[in-house]
Amino acid sequence: MRHRKSNRSAMIDFLLISSIITLTAIIIITISITGQFKFQKTTVAATANPNVEIPSLIDITNSSFPEIQIVSETSMNSLIPYSLQYPKTPFDSVNEEIKKYIEDSKNSYITALTTKNQKNKVKTIGHLDITSEIHEYNNQYYSVIFKTLSTLNRFSYDESFKTIVFHKETGEIVQSRALLNYDVGHLDVLAKVIRAELVRHYNNSIFNDQLQNATSPLWEKFNRFALIDNAIVFYFNQGEVAVKDVGSPTVTLPISYLNPILASVFQSEEKSEVTIVTPKENKKKVALTFDDGPHPKVTMQILNTLEKYDAKATFFMLGKQVEKHTDIAKEVVSRGHEIGNHTYNHPELTKQSTSQVQWQVDHTDQIIFDVIGEYPTVFRPPYGAKNQHVDSLIDVPVIMWTIDTYDWKHRDPNKLLPAVKANLHDGAIILMHDIHQSTADGLESVLIYLQQEGYEFVTVSELLAEQN
Ligand code: NI
Repeated sequence: MRHRKSNRSAMIDFLLISSIITLTAIIIITISITGQFKFQKTTVAATANPNVEIPSLIDITNSSFPEIQIVSETSMNSLIPYSLQYPKTPFDSVNEEIKKYIEDSKNSYITALTTKNQKNKVKTIGHLDITSEIHEYNNQYYSVIFKTLSTLNRFSYDESFKTIVFHKETGEIVQSRALLNYDVGHLDVLAKVIRAELVRHYNNSIFNDQLQNATSPLWEKFNRFALIDNAIVFYFNQGEVAVKDVGSPTVTLPISYLNPILASVFQSEEKSEVTIVTPKENKKKVALTFDDGPHPKVTMQILNTLEKYDAKATFFMLGKQVEKHTDIAKEVVSRGHEIGNHTYNHPELTKQSTSQVQWQVDHTDQIIFDVIGEYPTVFRPPYGAKNQHVDSLIDVPVIMWTIDTYDWKHRDPNKLLPAVKANLHDGAIILMHDIHQSTADGLESVLIYLQQEGYEFVTVSELLAEQN
């Protein structure tokens, strides 16, 4: 009998407990659905220390955007205080991403604080404060910016940022890849622009190694951004690229300025007054120059070799050669190279009269214009023979050279590279001639070497622009 009685009482206990659990569940579900009760109690277990349970108050209010609610979660444990404020959207994927960030931040804070307090006799009180801000862009996208302040001692706070950009109707999350139309060239430009801006704003406070790392052209490095008004703001954490005193660095770039690298859906209709240019890098540069052509065979071979290495060069042409080989002259231009004037028939200008010099220059300018539709942008005197008087008669930059390959003298493809190597330096202008077969044959080894050494091939005018 005793046995049966105890069984029955166990059964009653079980039923009672089940009812309580069921009722509690119903109440909690009702609260979540209606949202009428402002406060509810929940418990959160810290992952690293399952014995610590932190009761918290949750409050849900409307935001200024109809689809978005704001959840406020406050710790009820005075030793482990926190206050978290984050949006609840109509999209599961977005909410999951938000939840993951909030839970991760909360858990690492609780773990760090409890670990610290287990070790030390004197307990400290930390704080975690997450706030979020929502911006709407173009009636199409929402950007959520989370600002997280955390401390384990209340003396110094760490500030960090997280952002989520998503489409208002589809909930699709936008990351840097989609923003820049999946183009790594665009990523490269953005990385350089942001790095240059950080240096410009925070120059003396920048940590160089960290900056290089944080702005290396990898998609995941540029996922902290928000579309705010007509700009894109990129966020960095406090202490990530610069000293802590300057706070959390941000870079704000007008969308109209970024238009050329943005996917079309993000572009602004507004035209920018300034165009996006890749900021100057410390890459070494060299200007390859070819004189006395164009030549039907040699020039063509040189053009093909240059193209293989994506190298741009400058061709100082003789007027009489352009007249003979108009198609080659046009080909040089169409492949993106620069054209210079090298006189009509190669006289030593220092021994010519003023009118002869003028004729040599002007007549060649005109021939080149008639063939390619543009005037030459630079001039090189034959034999490098010039003086003040000759210079005064020429209204484009007069270009000499800093490395003479003597290709006209040795006519040996194997001697071209040693001549370049012997005097190589950043900003070099290398003199060669596109009328000797040996030069065309030896060029590839020069290009391979310069590329390996980290040189970029630019035209003479690009080099001059760089130096000014
Ligand atoms: Ni010459």
